[in-house]
Amino acid sequence: MNEHKGRLRASELEDSGDDGVNPTPNLTMGEIIATRFNRRDLLRGSLAVAAISATVGTRALAANEQPAKKVSNAISFDFKEIEAGVDQTHHVAEGYDVQVLLRWGDPIFADAPEFDPMNQTAEKQARQFGYNTDFIGFIPLNGSADHGLLVANHEYTNEELMFPGVGIQDSKDANFSKMTKDLVDIEIAAHGGAVVEIRRVNGKWQVVKDSKYNRRITAATPMEITGPAAGHDRMKTSADATGRRVNGMINNCAGGVTPWGTWLSCEENFNGYFWGKLGDDHPEARNYKRYGIGTPAYAWGKYYDRFDLAKEPNEANRFGWVVEIDPFDPNFVPKKRTALGRTKHEGAAGITNSDGRYVVYLGDDERFDYVYKFVTAGKVDTRNRVANFGLLDEGTLYVAKYNADGTGTWLPLVHGQGPLTEANGFKSQADVLIETRRAADLLGATKMDRPEDIEANPQTNRVYVMLTNNTRRKEDQVDAANPRANNAFGHIVEMMPEGGNHAALSFTWEVLVKCGDPSIASVGATFSSETTKNGWFGMPDNCAIDSQGRLWISTDGNNAKATGRADGLWALETEGEMRGTSRHFFRVPVGGELCGPFFTPNDESLFLAVQHPGEAEEGMTSTFENPITRWPDFKDGMPTRPSVLVITKQGGGKIA
Ligand code: FEO
Ligand code: CA
Ligand code: CA
Repeated sequence: MNEHKGRLRASELEDSGDDGVNPTPNLTMGEIIATRFNRRDLLRGSLAVAAISATVGTRALAANEQPAKKVSNAISFDFKEIEAGVDQTHHVAEGYDVQVLLRWGDPIFADAPEFDPMNQTAEKQARQFGYNTDFIGFIPLNGSADHGLLVANHEYTNEELMFPGVGIQDSKDANFSKMTKDLVDIEIAAHGGAVVEIRRVNGKWQVVKDSKYNRRITAATPMEITGPAAGHDRMKTSADATGRRVNGMINNCAGGVTPWGTWLSCEENFNGYFWGKLGDDHPEARNYKRYGIGTPAYAWGKYYDRFDLAKEPNEANRFGWVVEIDPFDPNFVPKKRTALGRTKHEGAAGITNSDGRYVVYLGDDERFDYVYKFVTAGKVDTRNRVANFGLLDEGTLYVAKYNADGTGTWLPLVHGQGPLTEANGFKSQADVLIETRRAADLLGATKMDRPEDIEANPQTNRVYVMLTNNTRRKEDQVDAANPRANNAFGHIVEMMPEGGNHAALSFTWEVLVKCGDPSIASVGATFSSETTKNGWFGMPDNCAIDSQGRLWISTDGNNAKATGRADGLWALETEGEMRGTSRHFFRVPVGGELCGPFFTPNDESLFLAVQHPGEAEEGMTSTFENPITRWPDFKDGMPTRPSVLVITKQGGGKIA
C-alpha cells in the first residue's frame, strides 16, 4: 500500500495516534554515538581500508567468502534510460514493448462476465481480476519461461475510483455513509489474489481463460491457520471454536514464490479493516494498540460483525500473517503460516540455504519497525514438492539488530528465551507469535525506516533491504542503519550473512545507497556520480534480482510534489566501481505506484503492476467520475484500472 488509501491515507493508517508506531526505546548509547559515519564512504577513502578491516574484521571475512560476481567499471545495464517526470500514462525505455496483460475487472474464467463499471456486483468481481495488485510471481509450467502461472495479490481498494457516486469520503464520516453493503461486498471480492495461467504466443502474452488452474481468492475465501498459534484460545471466535479456520486474507502486499512452487502472500495493513476499540483493561488491548487497530479505513465492520472488535474481539489476531497457497491446486485451502510471525508483513522472499534449509526474509512495514527472518527446521525436498508443504510450520523466527560498527545479530523469538517469558505475558510460542512486535521490542531489535521488500541475491548471498522512508525519525533517533533524520526518501541496506550462511546468527551490513536527489546537498543522497538527473529515485519499495544478479527497484511515493517524478522502476548497480549507479527504466501514470517487479527465468519478460493509478496526489481530487487519468483504457466513462503489465524487448531477447 502506498501513502494513502482512499478515504484514510495509509500515512494516517500508520499514524493514527495510538497506532502501531513502535513505542520502545531500542537504541543503545553506542549506536547513538557511533552513527554519523558512513562505512561505505570510509571504505572509499585511501587510508580507511586498514582501519576498517581492523575494526570490522567480519566484514573483510564475509567479503572474501562471498566475492562480488563481477567487478567492472562499466555499467551493466544496456537500456537507454527514460526521462523522469509525471503525466497520464506510462513510459518504458526505448526498444521495449509494454503489454497490458490483466486489468482490474478483466474476466479470468471462460464464463466470467465482461467488466461493466456501472453494473458491478460481488459475484462478477469474484470471477474477474481484483484491484490493486502488489506482488506478482510467475511460476513456470513444465519449466517454460513462456508458459506459466501468474500469481497476484490484490492488496486494497480505492472506493472513490471504483464506484460511481462515492467520491472522496469525508474523513469525519465515521459511518462511511456512502458505502452500501453491496459496495462492501464488491470490495471484499476485489481483495485477496488471483492465479491465472498465461502463455506467450508469437511474442505476445495471453491469458488462458479456460485454464484448470485459474482461481480467485478473496477476503472471504476459507483458509486454514497452521503452525504454533493455530488452535490457541486467542485465535478462536464465535464462528470458529477451533482457532484453525478463518475466512479470507486482507491487504496482501508483497510476497514470494518458493522453490517448491507455492506462493507466499503477505497480509500488511490489516489493522485498517477493524471497527471498534477495546477497553484498556481488555486482555488484547495492548496487543491491538501495538498494531494500530481501531481506526478503520473501510466500512466492512458496519455490515460484518467479525470486523467489529466489540462483537468479535479475537478476529484481528487471525490477520497479519504470511499465507502459503499452492497455485497448482485450485481447491487448495490457503494456509496462514503462523510460525513466520504476525506483523504488517511487506513480503516474504526466501532463499535455500547452503545446508538445504529455507530462509525467508520479512519486513514489517511501519515506521520504527523491524527486519525479520525465518529459518526452517527442515530442509527443502527438491524431489517431492508436496513434502515441503509443512516446512514453514517449524523453524525459528529472528529479528535483526544492526550494530553501529557494521556488524549485526539475529535475535531469536523463542518462548522461554530471554525476556519472552510468562513474566512479560508470553505463556507460549503462540503468544510470542501473536504479539511478534512486542516480543521483538523486548529483545531490543533495531527500529528501521519502514522495512519493505527484502531480497537475497543467490549469486553473492548479499541481502537487500528496501527502507522506504520515515519522516518521523528525529535527530536524536538516528542510528547507523537509519542514518538520516526526517528520512523522506528512504535508503537501501545491504546485508552479508556470516560466511554466506543465511541461517547464521551474525551478519555484516552497510548502507548501499541513501535515496533522493543528489543535486540537493541537504538531502544527503549517495547515488554514484555516474547517476543522471533521471537516474536517482526516492522511496524504494519492491525489488527483484534478475538472473544476472542485478538489482531492480520499484518505488512508492514519488510524485510531482515530492520528487518531481512519478514512481517507476530503476536499475541499480551493486558491484564494482559503478556500485550505487542507478538508471530509470519505466514510470507509471500519475497517482500510481509501481509494484511487482518479477522476471521470467530467462529475463525476457518482466511483470510489473501499476497500483492505484489516478489516486489523488496532494492538492488534487480524483474520483470515478473525474479521475486524474483514465489509464490504461483512456475511454470516456471507463474508470482508471490498476493493471499488470508485461515488458518485453522488441525483436526478442533479455531485458538488459
Ligand atoms: Fe503495501 Fe509496504 O507497501
Ligand atoms: Ca507499496
Ligand atoms: Ca511494497
